[in-house]
Amino acid sequence: MRDFALTPRLRLLADWVPPGARLADVGTDHAYLPVWLRLHGRVVSAIACDLREGPLARARETGRTWGADGIDYRLGNGLAVVSPEEADTIVVAGMGGENIAAILSRAPWTAGGGHTLLLQPQTRAETLRAFLAENGYAIRREALVEDRGVIYPVMEAGRGEMTLTLGQLYGGAALLHDPLGDRYIIRKIIRLQTAVAGRNRSGEGGEKGDALREIITALLSMREEWRNANCP
Ligand SMILES: C[S@@+](CC[C@H](N)C(=O)[O-])C[C@H]1O[C@@H](n2cnc3c(N)ncnc32)[C@H](O)[C@@H]1O
Repeated sequence: MRDFALTPRLRLLADWVPPGARLADVGTDHAYLPVWLRLHGRVVSAIACDLREGPLARARETGRTWGADGIDYRLGNGLAVVSPEEADTIVVAGMGGENIAAILSRAPWTAGGGHTLLLQPQTRAETLRAFLAENGYAIRREALVEDRGVIYPVMEAGRGEMTLTLGQLYGGAALLHDPLGDRYIIRKIIRLQTAVAGRNRSGEGGEKGDALREIITALLSMREEWRNANCP
């Protein structure tokens, strides 16, 4: 079989797709994930959708290049072009946490319990975690993956209830034993400290500054927990 390698980020997502799944990949761009999964016989069907013509043309091209069949390419916004019974596993990866939350909120059936959701925010993961906690979803597992120097969270979510602490919102819902957990938390802390310093310099400390400091304190104690759990 002619084949290509997925990047570590997409490979982790591929490994979390249940064997024999009927997949919908929202925001597919090059469609590397559905094409690879079809080539490897890991999914029985795939819907590859994207908001824009350009990425969808790239998706079709990848499918043609590698001779992948069983993929339906659709143009549309989020899950508007997928009906609930067409897929059991939904991937929304490689976009901002707010965008992923907006896509799920426009398809409330995703909280119904019949679908496995694999979510990978590039930014604002805390916005996505908060949305999930407030809208009847639970994160079943979460892992970090490093790809070209960036650490990305990957989440599997479904119907459920969960309460997250401030630290978990920013530092991950279930990353206490993740080998990359410490580095992920430290990077968050540094980013937040930079924001606080910037606000202080421009005399804009105020309530926002206090809120940022509260998050930093929560992350520092999470880091302590991570070290207690992982360092002998
Ligand atoms: C950076 S690419 C990610 C590609 C792939 N999912 C990955 O993780 O490598 C983001 C893609 O999401 C698409 N996109 C953004 N918002 C979308 C929406 N609301 N519905 C469908 N696709 C969307 C963009 O057009 C773009 O092709």
